[in-house]
Amino acid sequence: MLLIKHARQLITLAGPKGPRAGSAMDDVSIIQDGAVLIEGDTIRAVGPTFEVENLGGVTRIIDGREKPFLVLPGFVDSHSHPIFAATREDEYDLRTRGATYLEIAHAGGGIRSSVRKVRAASKPQLVTNALPYAQQFLTFGTTTLEAKSGYGLTLADEIKMLEAIQELGHRLPLTLVPTFLGAHDVPDEYRDRRAAYVDLLVNEMLPEVARRKLAVFCDVFCDVGFFSVDEARQILLAAQAQGFRLKIHAEELGPSGGADLAAEVGAVSADHLEFLSDAGIANLRRAGVIATLLPGTAFNLGLKQYPPARRLIDGGVPVALATDFNPGTCFSPNLQLIITMACAQMKMTPAEAITAATINGACALGLGDTIGSLEVGKTADLILLNLTDYRQLPYYFGVNHCAQVIKHGKVLA
Ligand code: NIG
Ligand code: FE
Repeated sequence: MLLIKHARQLITLAGPKGPRAGSAMDDVSIIQDGAVLIEGDTIRAVGPTFEVENLGGVTRIIDGREKPFLVLPGFVDSHSHPIFAATREDEYDLRTRGATYLEIAHAGGGIRSSVRKVRAASKPQLVTNALPYAQQFLTFGTTTLEAKSGYGLTLADEIKMLEAIQELGHRLPLTLVPTFLGAHDVPDEYRDRRAAYVDLLVNEMLPEVARRKLAVFCDVFCDVGFFSVDEARQILLAAQAQGFRLKIHAEELGPSGGADLAAEVGAVSADHLEFLSDAGIANLRRAGVIATLLPGTAFNLGLKQYPPARRLIDGGVPVALATDFNPGTCFSPNLQLIITMACAQMKMTPAEAITAATINGACALGLGDTIGSLEVGKTADLILLNLTDYRQLPYYFGVNHCAQVIKHGKVLA
């Protein structure tokens, strides 16, 4: 068994089942001078070092007296688009010269540019392209990553992306949770017949993705200029009937009504939410929807409007934080940096932000019972950070604090 002992702080996130909301988000459940005992891929004991270190059966020890560290659950990044064929620094350059995301999208860039490139790429090329990024997620302490399709937008190309996600998960010790995002945009060949594309999604793509068991979630980009609430409802209800759990990209570019739809259909999470109204917050709370906030996109696009994290938390909605890693709006796999942005720009406390990036992210993926906190019986996905107080994590930014990743009980090199 592996014993990790004398952690300056063991940030356990222990607590009641399910996502944390309200003041519970501000409690990360700290054990000072803590220890964790791991057998195989499972956590067997958690507590103060003096209690855990004498339990026996230990074959390997990591000792914080040699070099101080914090222990946290591995980060759970519950929203990303890591499969693509080419980067888009040309658009980044244009934005520094004043172009907006929507202007670039309307001119044929944005998602449509990634779609052209993904369609031209083979599955092995997509896997090869994604591998170094996936490795970087691990290096920054993310042990579980949601991964969306959505740059294919034909049945064959969406399946190619989802199979690439599956293959990527076999190549390295990062758990990937696949999401079908065929409704990321209406592809060029359907521009003038949107309804036909929605039909294709509902009648062909969703049943085939379900039959092949290639995705756990279905997501729709429900926003100004993308899918309307009515279109999104049709797609999400069809997905639900096929057994998918639901996510929505909502209220990112304008007040789309996507959050209300998330509440109506019982989505697990509504993501982005920059333009969320107070009524939308009340609806999310009533329906038990997790608000997944992605401050990296506002930061990177240079927008003033960050998601209303404070109003959500004070309104009792559980908040998760994720990178939204994608080649367009946020090209960073570093959830530590997202935690800093959440604290600095959205006034989340360090404890709330860590809760959002661990247990609440796990719940946003339907995995709250197995990962996201350090509790007996849970999967041993944890990280060691080169810090002595958890509040240093957002405060000391721009460096990688992650010294060691332990995935399924294995110490990664
Ligand atoms: O989450 N909002 C939709 N999709 C991505 C952007 C994708 C892209 O530009 O390639 C996002 O921001
Ligand atoms: Fe996204």
